[in-house]
Amino acid sequence: MNLSPKKNLIYLFDSVVPSRYVHKCRRFFFFDPFYGNDLAHRGRLSHYGSDERKAFARELKKIRSETELLIEDIEAYHIYMAVKRTQKVPGDIAEVGVYMGGSAKIICSVKGDRHLHLFDTFEGLPQVDDIDAVWPFYEGKFAASYDKVRDYLRHQENVTFYKGIFPDTSGPVEDKKFSMVNLDVDCYESTKKCLEFFYSRMSKGGIILSHDYTTTPGVRKAFDDFFEDKDEPVLETAGSQCLVVKV
Ligand SMILES: C[S@@+](CC[C@H](N)C(=O)[O-])C[C@H]1O[C@@H](n2cnc3c(N)ncnc32)[C@H](O)[C@@H]1O
Repeated sequence: MNLSPKKNLIYLFDSVVPSRYVHKCRRFFFFDPFYGNDLAHRGRLSHYGSDERKAFARELKKIRSETELLIEDIEAYHIYMAVKRTQKVPGDIAEVGVYMGGSAKIICSVKGDRHLHLFDTFEGLPQVDDIDAVWPFYEGKFAASYDKVRDYLRHQENVTFYKGIFPDTSGPVEDKKFSMVNLDVDCYESTKKCLEFFYSRMSKGGIILSHDYTTTPGVRKAFDDFFEDKDEPVLETAGSQCLVVKV
């Protein structure tokens, strides 16, 4: 792996600091001193006087105080909106890449009666390819406690957990249709496998949303390759996500 000196430093830092502190520490040590308010406010959600956005911002602040959430405010709002606006689309909801359950909690806040299927190794990233190593991604990064995440979401109804590498764990949902899928798996192979599994199972009007499309080359390549011969455009959103509506 051939990384720049700064990325080498980040890689070293990530391997010695416990994962639950990594995000906060990295912002403090690597980002904020260099970029100041620009990055500290990156992804801030403007509310333009909207009561719904203000209420969401309050809920998000609460979630951030309860658990570690690895997405920006505006990205969190995209998840919220995608779940909300697919209410009349038939099908369940799935998330692959749960980590500590923060994004799943956002989904729960607006999913209604729809069933939510949560997939994660809970032991961190599976083996990564060279394309993923340009960021300091490595096997085992983002490990989270399965028991703690289950406990965190214990009051949410119609939620099922699947521990292990996706798609090995996909058997129980093979016959399901989906209205919304949130992907946050960081790497090429995982993203590719998720698209291969979910695309044909999306209902018309269903949304696939993915984190890291603009920031990690593996995720971008998996999407761009997969959708090259499909009718759906891959829409790059503000923040780092991309979004596809099944036609
Ligand atoms: C960046 S974290 C997810 C962050 C979370 N969505 C949030 O907003 O806080 C990426 C997660 O993807 C999981 N992951 C990556 N590839 C996977 C795969 N093939 N199967 C299951 N989990 C996977 C990792 O275990 C890790 O928890």
